[in-house]
Amino acid sequence: MRLTLSLVLAALSLVAHAVPIITPSEIALKSSRGLRLLSLADGVEPVWKTEDEKLQLMRAGINFFDATEVYALEQKFPPKNDFAAAATFPAPSRQAQVTPILATVSTANMQSDLNALTAFNNRYYKATTGAQASQWILDKIASGRTDITASLYSHSWAQPSVVLKIAGKSSGPVTIVGAHLDSINLSNPTNGRAPGADDDGTGTVNLIEGFRALVAAGFKPSTPVEFHWYSGEEAGLLGSQAIATAYRSAGVQVKAFMELDMSGYFKPGTKEVFALQADYIEEGLQTFLKSLITTYSRIPWALDKPCGYACSDHASWYKIGVPSVFPYEAVTGNDNPNIHSASDTTSVNGFSWAHSLEFAKIGVAFVYELAA
Ligand SMILES: *[C@@H]1O[C@H](CO)[C@@H](O)[C@H](O)[C@H]1NC(C)=O
Ligand SMILES: [Zn+2]
Repeated sequence: MRLTLSLVLAALSLVAHAVPIITPSEIALKSSRGLRLLSLADGVEPVWKTEDEKLQLMRAGINFFDATEVYALEQKFPPKNDFAAAATFPAPSRQAQVTPILATVSTANMQSDLNALTAFNNRYYKATTGAQASQWILDKIASGRTDITASLYSHSWAQPSVVLKIAGKSSGPVTIVGAHLDSINLSNPTNGRAPGADDDGTGTVNLIEGFRALVAAGFKPSTPVEFHWYSGEEAGLLGSQAIATAYRSAGVQVKAFMELDMSGYFKPGTKEVFALQADYIEEGLQTFLKSLITTYSRIPWALDKPCGYACSDHASWYKIGVPSVFPYEAVTGNDNPNIHSASDTTSVNGFSWAHSLEFAKIGVAFVYELAA
């Protein structure tokens, strides 16, 4: 009975995929009227919502992909689902080179970068201050190296994403680390104060500082490396989906993706860990991440509860078939309760730069071990 039903469902889904239910002209018409196409669960057609309804879902803590601008391209370039064929990830072997670089990763630099980012009233994806934050990051990561390019990645909304590329000595699949640069005050998104110190100021400065440390060490990878700071994560993974879908359609080969989204808090009195997200990740890369943590960090990993559908930018890469992982600041329940509000600052009890430093270090080690 189960088998029969699943065969019927498989046949139906084949039909559904052969003829997209939502046509490009419907998308053009409805989005011009301010509607958004939201994907709320796996294997279920997305649904149209107003901006107000979308905000209500966000306030209710319901995660989704806002697929309005990527749906049509996704139909043309369905997920590759090539996890099985993905390269294997050998255990870390570059301790002699990596450990000295990790010793140079600076919490003082991260604090100073975060002070600048939290000084914007908010980094909302539709706000002018959100766009100014992207420009601030772009200016900050200028390296003067000709094998490194950094640029703003424009979207249809105000805040660009920021994409930094380090060329490889030879070509090969790209290793990507990402964080989201936007922040949100859920009571008043456009004008409300949203320092976003932890969400995701910490991941953002972990990557800025990790990049600085790699450049200071003269790191020149064998295969290409990219650092991404995404716009609009809080509004349905907008920036990461736009970039992942564009890479998929352009045939860019991606070796691995790691998201750093919140790394600065763990509930006082609880055990400090890397909380590994347990779903929408690729197990081979997860195994590699575990050994990276065991090799390079003073704190252990622990498996978190499933983070659920569309919970951060790794889901955008997972969706197109790229091996992805997402180490998080604490297991669910011991993570930061102050996010999405004016209270997401570094002065909350439980915020720890020593904790966040471990994530910045793992970002450096991830890049070095996979691409050197
Ligand atoms: C949102 O912003 C307003 C104005 O800055 C602020 O008064 C309010 O406390 C913020 N809301 C939350 C939930 O922090
Ligand atoms: Zn976040």
